[in-house]
Amino acid sequence: MDELIQLVKETKSIALDSKSAHNVSVKGLADFVTKVDTAIQEFMRSRLKDMYPDIQFMSEEKDNNDIDHTGKVWILDPIDGTTNLIHDFKMSAVSLGLVDNGVPVMGIVYNPFTDELFSARRGEGAYLNGAPIHVTSASNLSESLVIVGTSPYRKDLADVNFDIIKRLYIASEDIRRGGSAALDLCYLACGRAEGFFERNLKPWDYAAGVAILREAGGCVTDFAGNEPSYRVPSDILASNGIIHEEMKKIINE
Ligand code: IPD
Ligand code: CA
Ligand code: CA
Repeated sequence: MDELIQLVKETKSIALDSKSAHNVSVKGLADFVTKVDTAIQEFMRSRLKDMYPDIQFMSEEKDNNDIDHTGKVWILDPIDGTTNLIHDFKMSAVSLGLVDNGVPVMGIVYNPFTDELFSARRGEGAYLNGAPIHVTSASNLSESLVIVGTSPYRKDLADVNFDIIKRLYIASEDIRRGGSAALDLCYLACGRAEGFFERNLKPWDYAAGVAILREAGGCVTDFAGNEPSYRVPSDILASNGIIHEEMKKIINE
């Protein structure tokens, strides 16, 4: 774990290179990639291959068709929160998960702008910069802060998503929108908020965060209450565990 944490921290100088952050290509509607994304992916791919030659590598800015998901797979989002990066919003993260035959067993999520590093290994607890973290004990939505995701690349889903967001806003204390799903999950893990939902996320958005939030005592499922997929996109519902059913009911109303 220590050597992986050191490795992820080494991405800081790449992530903070503002010239590369503003070297942007358009992938799709509101969907961008910068030179920072591709440089971090290449750095991590080559270092992980040297350190762990037998573990497969899945990452957002590459073709992942040949991955055998019955084995061990690194799942990397080189920058989660690229739109934030482009806007100097300082809420982006490098997210590295390890999934073994469909089970998230390790996660590291690092925000190079704040130097906050969240980490967890299955069965060994969750940590923020080395100190143990835990979800809150808020017992219902009315005393909860809910982080929402807007599925920015699926503007066609705006009506259905914002209907849910409105219902959650009315039932909770308030809502927030962070812009990095990986950090959103970690914010639940360390007790800064109680709930999170976003439709149609990709495995690299949540693989590491799932490992961290579960070790912090939280719960992550899809909208039906099932285990998310680590091969294809999933809708993600996450919580401190206690308000999970209440959120699930509102999302599926
Ligand atoms: C995005 C972020 C964002 C979420 C999007 C994701 P990216 O990841 O996690 O918070 O709303 O759905 O795609 O594109 O910045 O890696
Ligand atoms: Ca992402
Ligand atoms: Ca990304």
